[in-house]
Amino acid sequence: GVKLLNGEQKMEMKATKEVKVGERVSFCRCWKSAKHPYCDGSHNKYNKETGDHVGPIVVAAVQA
Ligand code: FES
Repeated sequence: GVKLLNGEQKMEMKATKEVKVGERVSFCRCWKSAKHPYCDGSHNKYNKETGDHVGPIVVAAVQA
């Protein structure tokens, strides 16, 4: 949902993160991140080890 904080509109995500409108968040799709559900770059090591080519989905927050 969207919540007004300090006069600024922000999107509150169900996990633990608040983001500003327009901010981008990378969500892990390789299941190797230590910061799941967010990407921490672990997909690079995973791709090298396995020959896979997976990466995060990048989502931009918009005003609801
Ligand atoms: Fe999983 Fe980046 S760590 S996609």
